[in-house]
Amino acid sequence: PCSPPLDLGKVQGDILAGGLPKKTETCYFFRINDAYVHEFRTQLGKLVPLITSTAEVINDQRKQLAQNKKDAAEKKITPPHLKLSGVNISFSTKGLKKMGITDEIGDAAFDAGMLAGAKELGDIGTSPSNGPFDPDWIPAFKQEIDGLILITGDSYATVAEKLAEIEKILLVQARNPIIHEVIRLVGDVRSGKEKGHEHFGFQDGISNPAVTDVDANPNPGQQVVPQGIILLGRPGDAPTLGTPAAPVTRPHWALDGSFLSFRYLFQLVPEFNAFLKNNPIPITGLTREQGSELLGARLVGRWKSGAPVDLAPLHDDPVLGQDPLRNNNFHYTFPDDQQTQTRCPFAAHLRKTNPRGDLDQFGPNALPPHRIIRSGIAFGPEVSAVEAASEKTHLPRGLLFIAYQSNIEQGFQFIQQSWSNTPKFPPRKPANEIPGFDPIIGQTNDDGVRTLSGTDPNSQTANLKLPKQWVVPKGGEYFFSPSIPALKERFAL
Ligand code: HEM
Repeated sequence: PCSPPLDLGKVQGDILAGGLPKKTETCYFFRINDAYVHEFRTQLGKLVPLITSTAEVINDQRKQLAQNKKDAAEKKITPPHLKLSGVNISFSTKGLKKMGITDEIGDAAFDAGMLAGAKELGDIGTSPSNGPFDPDWIPAFKQEIDGLILITGDSYATVAEKLAEIEKILLVQARNPIIHEVIRLVGDVRSGKEKGHEHFGFQDGISNPAVTDVDANPNPGQQVVPQGIILLGRPGDAPTLGTPAAPVTRPHWALDGSFLSFRYLFQLVPEFNAFLKNNPIPITGLTREQGSELLGARLVGRWKSGAPVDLAPLHDDPVLGQDPLRNNNFHYTFPDDQQTQTRCPFAAHLRKTNPRGDLDQFGPNALPPHRIIRSGIAFGPEVSAVEAASEKTHLPRGLLFIAYQSNIEQGFQFIQQSWSNTPKFPPRKPANEIPGFDPIIGQTNDDGVRTLSGTDPNSQTANLKLPKQWVVPKGGEYFFSPSIPALKERFAL
């Protein structure tokens, strides 16, 4: 069936075009009070005007750009504050059921919830003889969570103001609140020269796919994917349920929605840094310190500046790292790339999660279904002097990981399970160089040891043994982020 042309005023703003403006972001996980489901749905109608669309996000980006230009022209050192904020809402399968929205949406992973699949994701936990696998998550994520409200902004004050408006509509402070807060997680963009870098120190948010007819000018090397890879009901969207002969048709209200995979990921930063320090790659001409930096870059696939190791194999190139016209323009297809790890280890985080040319042999349709749009944010304080000195994490910090896709099994779940956690991926590499685990997020909950090959370009068959985990999942859930018309016409009463 033919869908109407895509209207970005109808799509929630965190999904496309770079996402909600965020210096700080509050993820507000809630449960709808069983006694007030009807009230929730009537109040939802009043919440809809607060929801930020992609069209509004793009408009704000234009405003910000104009302001930056003006500030530069006027040589302002402390530019006036542009107040920016954004609100999005999404629901878990439990939330949809609770609201009585029971049409089959067509995604098995969403229907089951993340907790049910935690073992397969490789999360560590226990398997009691009399019950299901129990991951080492914080209790909040083992409870019922019906929905997630994202509130982003330029400052805590802006976010607090928006959150107060939302809480007022949902009577959170009243004697009979319509929703209960399950947990609130606050993420912050790091400051100073670490701005936009995740806590291990690497520039993040460089490579997301562009979407047909949404991102008008993709950067060189940036893959363009059909709208349906991210949005339900658009060309390229394929539900996981049903059979190829009789696929599940998405309900009409699913059009222009997207699945949001949330992961609460702690990062063991002092331990990661200590490992790099103790395992420098020995290369003639590099100091020990440079050898450690090189190891970090080869584990991630980019230098801390963002420069890809495929283009800058031995030395960082910060100008390249910050240049959007060049920093995505690589494909693991230099003549020595497919069968050697000279430039980039087969299992580097970047290569595992977006294998680019490694899948060319399977045709042009092999990679796009597994692309996701990442929109997360770092959380937690900087490493303290005590932590750095003791090489041990004391304070929680990491990534509030958020990824959008139209198919969770093919998107987040596939990347984590079938690529990052699977030592033989990418395929068809030399027999004595099994790629190994994605050293950043790859994990296993059996007794297996994490190794990867090829970290040392001069000894590519050698396997480097890694600690069990540097990234520790502490919870998560799958949500559906509906279109704004669906919120108004199907979800709200
Ligand atoms: C890219 C770090 C978790 C998928 C990156 C980059 C960094 C990074 C530094 C390079 C920046 C960029 O290209 O945009 C981390 C850290 C994580 C984490 C520290 C955990 C705390 C995840 C998870 C997934 C994932 C859970 C999915 C299962 C990706 C993808 C890319 C990427 C798809 C882009 C690769 C490309 O297009 O070349 N990550 N990441 N990451 N990450 Fe992660």
